[in-house]
Amino acid sequence: MSANLLDIRALRGGYSEVDIIQGIDLSVAPGQIVTIAGTNGAGKSTLVKALLGLLPRVQGEIVLDGRSITRLGAEDRFDAGLAYVPQVANVFASLTVRENLQVVRGVPHLKRRMDEVLADFPALVERLAQPASNLSGGERQQLAFARALMPSPRIMVLDEPTAALAPSLVGKVFDMVQKLPAAGVAVLMVEQRARQALQISLQGYILDQGRCVLAGPAHELLGDERMAQLYLGSH
Ligand SMILES: Nc1ncnc2c1ncn2[C@@H]1O[C@H](COP(=O)(O)OP(=O)(O)OP(=O)(O)O)[C@@H](O)[C@H]1O
Ligand SMILES: [Mg+2]
Repeated sequence: MSANLLDIRALRGGYSEVDIIQGIDLSVAPGQIVTIAGTNGAGKSTLVKALLGLLPRVQGEIVLDGRSITRLGAEDRFDAGLAYVPQVANVFASLTVRENLQVVRGVPHLKRRMDEVLADFPALVERLAQPASNLSGGERQQLAFARALMPSPRIMVLDEPTAALAPSLVGKVFDMVQKLPAAGVAVLMVEQRARQALQISLQGYILDQGRCVLAGPAHELLGDERMAQLYLGSH
């Protein structure tokens, strides 16, 4: 049995009969941060959808914690410990901060878990009774993370968590991501700011046209000048 938390093996699939992702292997060890980078349209978001159970046609295998989840639906994958923070619409604007945390399903000791999660988000504690629509962009992102953490997931999947944010908030999101392993949560994130993301990652994968063109320790990817120029952009 693999010591990895997540193993994706020979994953192919797409939205119609055309394969968008064309045989991807990827692993995440427990408590590890892993970044997926690559060109626009490479299939990064499609890979994330396949992992979450949201892609209509998939072949290959996905193993989470020693158990195949390939044939599970999205809700059962959530119950198996796979958390996802969507880029937009990731909180209920009309509900209060407290209600946003209370409505997460599958949390056995709700009050205790809420206290545990909120310990890392003091700004939210002051705003528990306010509707989420009153929060600033940065506070909303904190609430989205807090919501995702409520069911004690094994791994958090993030698709471009900094894309819609003001530049001043980008560092704060990477700070939140960096704290997750200490809470026992591994991270698989797609990021356009690939250099910054790799700097806090142990492993990286670079996708191009549905295939993985390079994978390895993050510091090696950052040190590969030719690849970095081709795929990592300026951030
Ligand atoms: N819902 C969809 N239906 C059909 N084709 C899609 C759909 N979503 C994406 N595609 C196609 O799949 C390919 C990969 O798209 P995907 O969104 O996975 O790329 P990406 O690497 O996430 O790109 P970006 O960096 O722009 O976010 C593209 O050719 C895109 O047109
Ligand atoms: Mg994408």
